[in-house]
Amino acid sequence: MVIRNVTNNYPEIDRERLPRHVAIIMDGNGRWANALGLLRSAGHVAGVKTLKRILKTAVNLELEALTVYAFSTENWKRPLAEVDFLMHLFSEYLEKEKLEMHENNVRIHFLGRIDELSPLIQSQVRDAEQLMQHNTGVKFNIAANYGGQDEIVRAAKKIAAKVLNGQLDVDRIDEKIFDAELDTCDCPPVDLVIRTSGDMRVSNFLLWQSAYAEFWFTQTNWPEFSSEEFIQALVDFGKRERRFGAVKSS
Ligand code: IPE
Ligand code: IPE
Ligand code: MG
Repeated sequence: MVIRNVTNNYPEIDRERLPRHVAIIMDGNGRWANALGLLRSAGHVAGVKTLKRILKTAVNLELEALTVYAFSTENWKRPLAEVDFLMHLFSEYLEKEKLEMHENNVRIHFLGRIDELSPLIQSQVRDAEQLMQHNTGVKFNIAANYGGQDEIVRAAKKIAAKVLNGQLDVDRIDEKIFDAELDTCDCPPVDLVIRTSGDMRVSNFLLWQSAYAEFWFTQTNWPEFSSEEFIQALVDFGKRERRFGAVKSS
């Protein structure tokens, strides 16, 4: 289904004050399931439905970039059965959703150590990225086997290799050069980080990119996070005063 632009349906939104890049820590699937007496896996299934809903809203709003945290480098510590289930769900999600994303001009990109995922997922990731590489709509990044510290270390290694082989002078290394080696290199910095489910921490997500991000937390567990609440976060963002270290302009 091709989504039409329905920005007019959201009169509360001032397009001029929308964040360019929104990042979401989709947390609370397990707690949502526990509260209902369900298995954690049911929470993850419900979480995928929320993701579809929020991506649709991002497409409707013509957001520039949306990055979601699907699996962290620390999530391998979970029981094997849960990790396997999450990987299966990820693979199924990509297979089922990629054509509709493509129809909606979404450009998908993956962040993190994809090379450590299964050969099947690696090929699905490559196929999806290739399919949508020329799309010009929402830049939709999925962080899978992602850790902000790991990403920074990988970028540092790439830069060190360039210095060692004479491609780059040490004195030329600056924030821009560093940024270009990150997994998010063609996205603007993160403007807004949303975390569901009540915990107020970063959990190793986009440490570099969110240097000046605004943070928005909600008690709502991810499976129950609605488009309306997402829009509320965007509207609240529009009311924040961002100073970037400067003083308030009068
Ligand atoms: C988020 O929900 C999904 C992943 C981290 C993969 P959780 O599984 O962390 O749910 P809670 O935090 O235990 O409720
Ligand atoms: C962060 O959630 C990772 C993802 C949402 C994929 P976690 O549930 O893993 O974070 P912690 O363990 O509560 O910090
Ligand atoms: Mg959690």
